[in-house]
Amino acid sequence: AAPRRPLIAIDGPAGAGKSTVARAVAAQLHLLYLDTGAMYRAITWLALQRGIPLDDAEQLTQLAAQTQLSLKSGNSSVEPTRIWANGEEITQAIRSPEVTRWVSQVSAVPGVRQELVKRQRSMGRDGGAVLEGRDIGTHVFPDAELKVFLTASVEERAQRRQHQLQAQGQQVALEELEAQIQQRDRRDSERTISPLRPAPDAILIDTDHLSQSEVQDKIVMLYQQLLARS
Ligand code: DC
Repeated sequence: AAPRRPLIAIDGPAGAGKSTVARAVAAQLHLLYLDTGAMYRAITWLALQRGIPLDDAEQLTQLAAQTQLSLKSGNSSVEPTRIWANGEEITQAIRSPEVTRWVSQVSAVPGVRQELVKRQRSMGRDGGAVLEGRDIGTHVFPDAELKVFLTASVEERAQRRQHQLQAQGQQVALEELEAQIQQRDRRDSERTISPLRPAPDAILIDTDHLSQSEVQDKIVMLYQQLLARS
């Protein structure tokens, strides 16, 4: 059999620029791109839709197990991943402030994680993919050939988020965004199952003073070094 192509794991907190960079790296290297956060968002959206109490771990687990998800990554570095739940496209819906607000709680449910991780492993099984999330390098694919952990200061992340929202015509105060980001970081890092933290062998990149393309170049260089060594 052909050797498995490498996997790139890109983890880090919300707003560190993971998605843009992961998409661009995947496009440049002709790898599959998998946005695992979109899967947690999809389950959160469905739970809100159906009025499932977000502290009911059993119902949420059942929901995750019974939901058919399909993801299609865009053809370029700017197109977001499109996502369908049980055949209904929810690409836009999963980006709502409501989903963003509740997704940490849903993604802390062990049964939900177990189900989604199982699917992520099967999607990345053959390698040749960039997987973006929080626990890819520590849990989903601990043997990924290249693990990158992106960070940025809370201030920087709030500013980037503010720009994104402004581009969508929304005005939100910086302090409010900083508070939201801190709260989400805390929830994601303090949960007992697969908390957000870098894998011991992850390469940390602080993106505060780097442009998106500088971060992209660094990761592509690391990947090429890896291929040259193997
Ligand atoms: O990357 P994002 O903002 O779309 O992720 C949404 C939420 O999902 C985030 O609060 C943490 C959670 N998440 C997770 O727990 N594990 C992943 N692999 C990806 C996302």
